[in-house]
Amino acid sequence: MTIQPLRQCVSSELQAVDTLIVSSLESKVETVNQIGHYIVNSGGKRIRPLVVLLSGKACQAQSEEAIAMATIIEFIHTATLLHDDVVDRSLLRRGIPTANAVWDNASAVLVGDFIYSRAFQMIARLKNAEATEILAETTNVIAEGEVLQLTHRQQPDISEAQYLRVIEYKTAKLFEAACQLGAVLGNQSRTIKQMLASYGKHIGIAFQLVDDLLDYQSNNPDWGKNIGDDLAEGKATLPLIYGMQHGDAALAELIKSAILNKGSDKLAEIQSGIVSSGAIDYTMRLASEAIRNAKKALTLLPDTDYKAALNDLADFVVARNY
Ligand code: IPE
Ligand code: IPE
Ligand code: MG
Ligand code: MG
Repeated sequence: MTIQPLRQCVSSELQAVDTLIVSSLESKVETVNQIGHYIVNSGGKRIRPLVVLLSGKACQAQSEEAIAMATIIEFIHTATLLHDDVVDRSLLRRGIPTANAVWDNASAVLVGDFIYSRAFQMIARLKNAEATEILAETTNVIAEGEVLQLTHRQQPDISEAQYLRVIEYKTAKLFEAACQLGAVLGNQSRTIKQMLASYGKHIGIAFQLVDDLLDYQSNNPDWGKNIGDDLAEGKATLPLIYGMQHGDAALAELIKSAILNKGSDKLAEIQSGIVSSGAIDYTMRLASEAIRNAKKALTLLPDTDYKAALNDLADFVVARNY
């Protein structure tokens, strides 16, 4: 399954987002331009802007504001990626070397700061107090999520609940905001805003669960990241947590020592261990459950092509292999 067909009903708006992304990156400092354009031109699925636009259309938001909001959300996402790849020491993203690999950590972090603050310049121009509050809270929670994850690194005893909190903060929060903001721009009722926030949060949880699976499993060149990056950083994601708790003692020991020692040399054994322990099935089950909850949250929306696309987008999040 690809994301392409879901883009059709907002294709002209998505094009406008891409144009606005490029023009809004403009800086008087050459390195900012170079790194900024390097990352945004490398592609990416643009799934979060798609969520803003579909939700905005479903809620009768004005197009121009929705396009600006979609760009803002993609900028926040892009800034977190620049920072995340430094923290995770990742060398490949979107099929090409990361900014920290091509330039260095300092440049990637600082350009990430530039993109964050550019997003806030654009938010200020919208003069929408409710949207500003949501976006400020969201970036704050994402930062907390990344820090929380850092504190759990090389900790094999992290619980499933602690893991779920990390993914809610670092990933689901931005999806939640993206979807809620479509309703805010459309001046919808509190109930509709809450339901769309809930849809966004649940697809965000599923999105990260699947990302954590694909980190062990993807065999699609479009994945664009190195397999086993999480293990190399001692990140105990759900496939490992479940494998330790439900696999045999040998598997538990293998995973535990890999997390403690950031040991990716046993990647192949761990990959087959998490399959045989049922960890892959379990992670998919949780993702599917989140998707069911996401879809339930759409029921109050009137039936439109945009609602149908949001429904299909929820399916894409669990069916994707990139
Ligand atoms: C990657 O997000 C970061 C996560 C939250 C897992 P995406 O998979 O949406 O990244 P791009 O923008 O398509 O490259
Ligand atoms: C998501 O976590 C990162 C952010 C939300 C900032 P990951 O570390 O799993 O994302 P990838 O795999 O590097 O894209
Ligand atoms: Mg990462
Ligand atoms: Mg990942």
